[in-house]
Amino acid sequence: MSQAPVNDGTGPAADPLVVLNKVNKHFGALHVLQDIDLSIARGEVVVVIGPSGSGKSTLCRTINRLETTDSGTITIDGRPLPQEGRELARLRADVGMVFQSFNLFAHKTVLANVTLGQTKVRKKDRATAEATARTLLDRVGVGAQADKYPAQLSGGQQQRVAIARALAMDPKVMLFDEPTSALDPEMINEVLEVMQQLARDGMTMVVVTHEMGFARSAADRVVFMADGRIVEEAVPDRFFSNPRSDRAKDFLSKILHH
Ligand SMILES: Nc1ncnc2c1ncn2[C@@H]1O[C@H](COP(=O)(O)OP(=O)(O)OP(=O)(O)O)[C@@H](O)[C@H]1O
Ligand SMILES: [Mg+2]
Repeated sequence: MSQAPVNDGTGPAADPLVVLNKVNKHFGALHVLQDIDLSIARGEVVVVIGPSGSGKSTLCRTINRLETTDSGTITIDGRPLPQEGRELARLRADVGMVFQSFNLFAHKTVLANVTLGQTKVRKKDRATAEATARTLLDRVGVGAQADKYPAQLSGGQQQRVAIARALAMDPKVMLFDEPTSALDPEMINEVLEVMQQLARDGMTMVVVTHEMGFARSAADRVVFMADGRIVEEAVPDRFFSNPRSDRAKDFLSKILHH
């Protein structure tokens, strides 16, 4: 049975930057994304939560086309996501992505990690790219680590480098897929603080996270997914204090009570 999601968010995005319209995706028999409609405004911070296997990562991965879709459309800043080729590479560069695992190039220095995409994809000259990289590394608090290799950094430092690397491409939107869940507890806050600052600076962000404190303080809207659908969306206060759907109530009772 198809059920319209409970929507108590801010209504249709005023100035939509990312728009998913009736997006469907299957993995074989599994209908992993089901009629996903989601419009994200410029400068908006959307936190996506939901049970394991509900399709949160797949949703992120379709937005920068690491996964294809079966039907529906995705537009970024008014332009449909291209299927492939140079156009796709350029559009993908508009979408910064930070994963659970740090995905830095192990054999390159921190500085080189943050410089590479700028010279290769954005065609900046090396000096300009390095200057940008150093500014961004300072901004996320790891400027002193620029000449080290990833393995010489803590997990929290590596994740902040990954954020700087994504920012170096000057993305229009940043996607975070559980960026703190592989970190030791004492390193979680340093990464969340960088993300909080980004949000305050007006970056458009989609964040999959189990950090409900972050969701409460940084999100403009919480999107709750279950079984491949958006079941409920609302401003954080409303969502956490008064979830409407049974699925969301059940999920919150499990994660908030231990
Ligand atoms: N490449 C793949 N091939 C087949 N099935 C997949 C693939 N990737 C994901 N799935 C399945 O799709 C469903 C949704 O996966 P997804 O990773 O998007 O969930 P999630 O909400 O991010 O879960 P988690 O909270 O555990 O990260 C799961 O049942 C998963 O097993
Ligand atoms: Mg996931």
